[in-house]
Amino acid sequence: MNEIESETTKLSSDKPYIQFQNVSKKFGNFTAINDLTLDIFNNEFFSLLGPSGCGKTTLLRMLAGFEKPTNGRILLEGEDISNIPPHLRPINMMFQSYALFPHMTVEKNIAFGLKQDKLPSNKINQRVDEMLELVELTEFSKRKPNQLSGGQRQRVALARSLAKRPKLLLLDEPLGALDKRLREQTQFELMNIQEKLGITFIIVTHDQEEAMTVSSRIGVMDSGNVIQVSTPNNLYEAPATKSVAEFIGNVNLFEGVYKGFDDIGTKLKCEHSESIVYSSQSIDAKNGSKIWLAVRPEKLEIFKSPPDYKYNILKGTIIDIGYGGSFSTYHVKLPNGNMISVIRANRERTSEKSITWNDEVYLHWSSKSAVVLTE
Ligand SMILES: Nc1ncnc2c1ncn2[C@@H]1O[C@H](COP(=O)(O)OP(=O)(O)O)[C@@H](O)[C@H]1O
Ligand SMILES: [Mg+2]
Repeated sequence: MNEIESETTKLSSDKPYIQFQNVSKKFGNFTAINDLTLDIFNNEFFSLLGPSGCGKTTLLRMLAGFEKPTNGRILLEGEDISNIPPHLRPINMMFQSYALFPHMTVEKNIAFGLKQDKLPSNKINQRVDEMLELVELTEFSKRKPNQLSGGQRQRVALARSLAKRPKLLLLDEPLGALDKRLREQTQFELMNIQEKLGITFIIVTHDQEEAMTVSSRIGVMDSGNVIQVSTPNNLYEAPATKSVAEFIGNVNLFEGVYKGFDDIGTKLKCEHSESIVYSSQSIDAKNGSKIWLAVRPEKLEIFKSPPDYKYNILKGTIIDIGYGGSFSTYHVKLPNGNMISVIRANRERTSEKSITWNDEVYLHWSSKSAVVLTE
């Protein structure tokens, strides 16, 4: 009995909660979403990350039921939801602009949807109290939105979205109106709330740091499609394309020519270096084809004299040093004019003095920390 039970639990948790199947959305001649397929699982904190205009809001609006796909299907727990109107979907969407009612108190704002659903008033009061506690606004329950700070308004909107106990909460740029410090604090609050409630969150953002901080997985979008879906760590360490590498954090990209694979790894001839450079990763490419090597700034070491390595060495000149407190960023100019970024932790109080402007330096990376890309 127990075995069967655990087996079914496993099966049900492996089944996607939401499935976009070959979904397209056209506005007139314009394709906003282009044949997109994506699975999202129960209990995930999933981020849709991409530049402005890539289709993030459109995707959420289709999931919430405010837009219909032109082609393809959206399934919720295996069921096609195309004929279910928005208010009957177990989904709530929190809009970018919060849209709080200015003339209503915090508690009335939170109770609004519950009243519409004609819940008995004792149930409503109980639920509102619960929500106020969840977002830590109990003492502000009688205030109106204009008597609250931006962060508090954001929490009221969140409480209102959660009051009807949706199984899925869609958040469209929820922290966009907050300043940097409040944003960071609110990111952790959102994560705690999601964990406490055990529901699925899908958040839209164009801020890669935010997506990396809050998400279990991220779907990176570009021009109406998802180009890579993975964990934050995997997107950073193993981006599938140049655009993902550039969108998730900073990266140095070396364009070169594929020269095969040997004991050390993939060989690349590029104009940045006189000798062959390596990544330990293997890729599917033809000899002589154009490929790119991607190295994150913190994976490069700087030396003032030629280091004792046989490969993966670049020579350049320090052009600029940005002091960032716990780390410094060095901009190094190569003989071909390309600029390389290197980040070093400032471990000693004087470390930033040892390398300075106009110094001739050597850069090195381990083959293991370089990624090769074909597109
Ligand atoms: N109702 C609409 N009519 C026409 N074009 C639209 C409409 N909604 C969105 N678009 C277009 O679709 C593209 C994607 O929009 P959107 O999903 O809002 O992007 P994002 O949220 O990623 O910034 C944009 O080019 C936008 O102008
Ligand atoms: Mg948007």
